[in-house]
Amino acid sequence: MDISLSDEQKMLREEVRRFAEEVVKPIAKRVDSDKVFPLEFFRSAGELGLAGVFVPERWGGAGMDTVSYCIVIEEISRVSASCGVILSVNNSLVCQPILDFGSDEQKEEFLKPLASGEKLGCFALTEPEAGSDAASIRTVAEKKGGKYFIRGSKVFITNGTNADLAIVFATLDRSLRHKGITAFLVPLDLQGVERSGEEYKLGVNGSGTAELVFDNVMVPEKYRLGEEGEGFKVAMKTLDGGRIGIAAQAVGIARGAFEEALEYAKTREQFGKPIKDFQAIQFYFADMITEIDAARILTWKAAWLKDNGKKYTLEAAQAKLFASQMAQKVTNLALQIHGGYGYTKDYNVERYFRDARITEIYEGTSEIHKLVIARELIGKI
Ligand code: CAA
Repeated sequence: MDISLSDEQKMLREEVRRFAEEVVKPIAKRVDSDKVFPLEFFRSAGELGLAGVFVPERWGGAGMDTVSYCIVIEEISRVSASCGVILSVNNSLVCQPILDFGSDEQKEEFLKPLASGEKLGCFALTEPEAGSDAASIRTVAEKKGGKYFIRGSKVFITNGTNADLAIVFATLDRSLRHKGITAFLVPLDLQGVERSGEEYKLGVNGSGTAELVFDNVMVPEKYRLGEEGEGFKVAMKTLDGGRIGIAAQAVGIARGAFEEALEYAKTREQFGKPIKDFQAIQFYFADMITEIDAARILTWKAAWLKDNGKKYTLEAAQAKLFASQMAQKVTNLALQIHGGYGYTKDYNVERYFRDARITEIYEGTSEIHKLVIARELIGKI
């Protein structure tokens, strides 16, 4: 694996860092405190090609690679984890499966506007009774006269409050478990779709987490994504890529907290000198930066494997597991360095601390990643 960045990737990093500083930073606090879904941010990101980073230009994207995508998600999440996950879901969980499993007609109708940021997507897999056990979903797709009728509800859907389109997973026959699951492209203005109130959460408060209810929603056959019964494979393959995005998000959150703590330690004086001069604090920084860099390398390794057409299920799970756990530790230490001030809303570090927590839960919990890693190593028990 080559971990040196190309000139194009370095330029992208500079450009996205500038965008994050100028456009995202000024809204980051309010997006969190007022639970504002930053739709304008998403549109502006789309104009820069960030809504479909690895989608070919032919389909409205920027035509870059997955390492570039990691750079984008890290830089945005460094400033706002809400904005980071909004982009990550649109790129990894919505554009990617349409790119992989969609027909040219579907790409024309759905992928182009999603990848260019004109439309926003969400990924509707999780249900009240089906979280880690994704194959146990109960949302039904009944086939009648060449059309599907979808009934059921999906919870914790990131972007759910504002999305134009959802990729919905439903079963044609529950007795078949994962083999009955099929994926559908469902425009959310179809009759019978309802969005319920937004979740009141610990962190990532601007990411529009909502419940979607499908009350006999009629979906034409041409909106089925992939084959009947192929939906679980669509979901798993998509989540492999999504986990790289969340690992990059965790790296970005940790770096944001690290940088805030470093600035604070330079100016905060105790016992007659800046606290950065105390070895206890210096050792915290040494641990933090080492773990951040280790997580980024794991993340880029998984991205590199994906870009080079190799299997990356194991490496994506490792990256997500390690990076999300690292983000807990780093944000915790960053808060500790801030002392009492870190526990107040006057500083950003409490937001990073809260935002980091979700990276161990969404797109697969840490426990699920350990299961995936163990299965990849020693097979299914
Ligand atoms: N790629 C392709 N196919 C895969 C796969 C992968 N990574 N993993 C499994 N499969 C296939 C298997 O090969 C198998 O296929 P066959 O029937 O042809 O043999 C089939 O899928 C079933 O596999 P398993 O028996 O391993 O399935 P399982 O029921 O034991 O579940 C699991 C496996 C890994 C636990 C899975 O259920 C899982 O990933 N759970 C976590 C769900 C999750 O991540 N949810 C996140 C929701 S989205 C979200 O959070 C978005 C957001 O808001 C940001």
